[in-house]
Amino acid sequence: MNTPVPDYLADLLRNCKTAHGGELADYIPELASADPNKLAVALITLDGLLYSVGDDDYEFSIQSISKAFTYAYVVEKLRLEAVMQKVGVEPSGEAFNEISLDQTDDRIKPKNPMINSGAITVHSLIPKAENDCRAETVRQFFSQLAGRELSFDLAIFQSEKETAFRNLSIGYSLRNFNILESDPVEIVESYLKQCSINVTVKDLVNMMSVLVNDGILPRTGERIFSHKTVRQVLTVMTTCGMYNAAGDWLANVGIPAKSGVSGGIIGVLPGQVGLAVFSPKLDRFGNSVRGIDIMQQMSRDMGLHLL
Ligand code: DON
Repeated sequence: MNTPVPDYLADLLRNCKTAHGGELADYIPELASADPNKLAVALITLDGLLYSVGDDDYEFSIQSISKAFTYAYVVEKLRLEAVMQKVGVEPSGEAFNEISLDQTDDRIKPKNPMINSGAITVHSLIPKAENDCRAETVRQFFSQLAGRELSFDLAIFQSEKETAFRNLSIGYSLRNFNILESDPVEIVESYLKQCSINVTVKDLVNMMSVLVNDGILPRTGERIFSHKTVRQVLTVMTTCGMYNAAGDWLANVGIPAKSGVSGGIIGVLPGQVGLAVFSPKLDRFGNSVRGIDIMQQMSRDMGLHLL
């Protein structure tokens, strides 16, 4: 469902076009050639009414935003207690690609599911049928949430795979501690494929509508997640979704969120609204500079801050 674009969103984009700063992510070579001028915003209401402006049909790879949805999928399928055995919920206060294993507990595990070590572990927990690929399970699930068939960006996938030294070393560490229980290379590559799924800001807010609406997809009325799963995902998005900028984000924007290195950010105010922005230039934490700007403005204008 799409409705006429409100002037408000168009104004937001116009005002932020002058904002400068940030750099394109370059550790994935293919991302370094992204068009830095792309800019889009979308908003979805509790009952699934969608508004979007700017480059709202432009596809970009979902990257780390995928971590929130695969975590929800795995928590729902395996139950929270089982997932908690493998991945914690403590903010790491570190960069997204730190190894960050929590050794203070009775077992060693990644600190949370939003950093790479946690997300790779979560990916490994996706139930795998014989000859089945976990990334394909994720693609089908994201397509169900988005309401259209999503595709992999194979150029991004290939490019990241060729330079995935850091994620592979995280994978081998996880395997060393038996947190990953099978071939780390296969799991890391499948996780990278999950990150390469193409979305638009409209897809992102459609996907988020299930989190806004306490687990029920407004478009179909189908219950996808229990309340417990939604609460868990939104909790880790609140504390860990923006990595080592999570405190700043919570103070200034004040809603559960998740960012990705291609330049997307999602934000959810439960029971009210889902927001998605896209602009490829990033700050030093790996979060979109204009994206943060727009989210801050929307939070102020619409009084979205949780507190
Ligand atoms: O694991 C990686 O490095 C990427 N595929 C995803 C990282 C990411 O999006 C971090 N977010 N800001």
